[in-house]
Amino acid sequence: MENIITWDVKYSVGIERIDLEHKIFLDLIKNFQKEIFENVSDERLFRLILEIEKYAEFHFISEENFMKLINYPKLEQHINLHFDLLEKLNVAKHSNVNKNDFLNFTVAWFVNHTIQEDKQIYNYCKENNIEINFKLDIVNE
Ligand SMILES: [Fe+2]
Repeated sequence: MENIITWDVKYSVGIERIDLEHKIFLDLIKNFQKEIFENVSDERLFRLILEIEKYAEFHFISEENFMKLINYPKLEQHINLHFDLLEKLNVAKHSNVNKNDFLNFTVAWFVNHTIQEDKQIYNYCKENNIEINFKLDIVNE
């Protein structure tokens, strides 16, 4: 089985905490891919999508809190994009969605959103000399 996506420096936003959360998100997606091939039960797939959905929800709140803290000008637009994915994950969880389509969609969303949108948060900080104080002690100790 070929890995659908592997963490790469090109996905790095440059904000430590966000990058770590993105890595965990990718890990959940990879696990989902692995289990699809193992013919697991519908209930198990539901639980895995639920885990991805709830993690995405947490991560988006985390990212949005950071954007609020720095008065990010495109906050509302960014929140709408997050909301859009959460809605799609919720639908996928309750419908008999094709698992591969779900996987491909979620990965494409991640790649596109991270590179196109999340990196702009970092750029905004740099352009406005905002110190990024969103580090993880657990990583640095
Ligand atoms: Fe985002």
